[in-house]
Amino acid sequence: MRPQNLKTKIFLDSGNPVETREAIKFLGFLDGQTTNPSLIAKNPELQAKISRGQKLSSEEVKTFYRSVIEEIKVMVSDGSISIEVYADKNTSKEKIIEQAREMNKWIPNAHIKLPITEAGLLAEHDLLKEGFRVNMTLCFSQEQAGAVYNMSLGSKKGNVFLSPFIGRLDDKGQNGLSLIENIQKIYSKGDGHVEVLAASIRSYEHFLACLALEVDIITAPLKILEEWWKRDLEIPSKDFVYNKKDLSNIPFEDISLDKNFINYNLQHDLTDAGLDKFVSDWKTLIA
Ligand code: G3P
Repeated sequence: MRPQNLKTKIFLDSGNPVETREAIKFLGFLDGQTTNPSLIAKNPELQAKISRGQKLSSEEVKTFYRSVIEEIKVMVSDGSISIEVYADKNTSKEKIIEQAREMNKWIPNAHIKLPITEAGLLAEHDLLKEGFRVNMTLCFSQEQAGAVYNMSLGSKKGNVFLSPFIGRLDDKGQNGLSLIENIQKIYSKGDGHVEVLAASIRSYEHFLACLALEVDIITAPLKILEEWWKRDLEIPSKDFVYNKKDLSNIPFEDISLDKNFINYNLQHDLTDAGLDKFVSDWKTLIA
């Protein structure tokens, strides 16, 4: 059962409904689930087809993605389920919006994941005005966080998630957790309408550190949620000391939340690399 003093919403990061069932069994609750093209590509049912030499059409992959989301929805009926559009860094706003409109019909509790590119941000703005909920993904910088905030001004809390990726910054020798802290500090100047969703959680220590920071939402793989259950859903105090080892902290930038979005620097190599990876994982499935 959800601990009474838990301030953070807990999501599972997985494209496999079998893991959703497991997570709910361990924890006794689950606030939501995030998916992405790489996680769907890893789905065991899909992988079994691929290992038999089967390749699918893009329509069939989309139908499979939809069936996975519908299955998760039965178990996570009140929570949020993130569904990601297929996009590379050149995908137009129109193409992103077209996919978002289709995916949003799959279930009533979707957050549509959009990339933090210029087209993704323009789509964020327009989709929010249409009443959609969005999860802005592949965030690696404070400037990107500023742009996401700015393009969603006027939105209700709950409608906009920002997903900074901790582990992928760690991979480059930078302390991903320091990005989360910096964004929390920048957003503390605002109205709180954007919720920070800590993603790319690779270790139990990442998970605990995010709980200690009272991040709005954490999405974690099943094995980390299982570890938490084995440790009786412990909640560390705010004084929890995170061992960043030899990672270097990302310096705080006092980003303004009210620049025109075009004046935020949206570029980050890891955003580009992340989009390339989603596209290449997706393409492994398609004939
Ligand atoms: O939620 C994003 C997550 O799935 C990415 O994790 O381990 O591929 O960086 P990772």
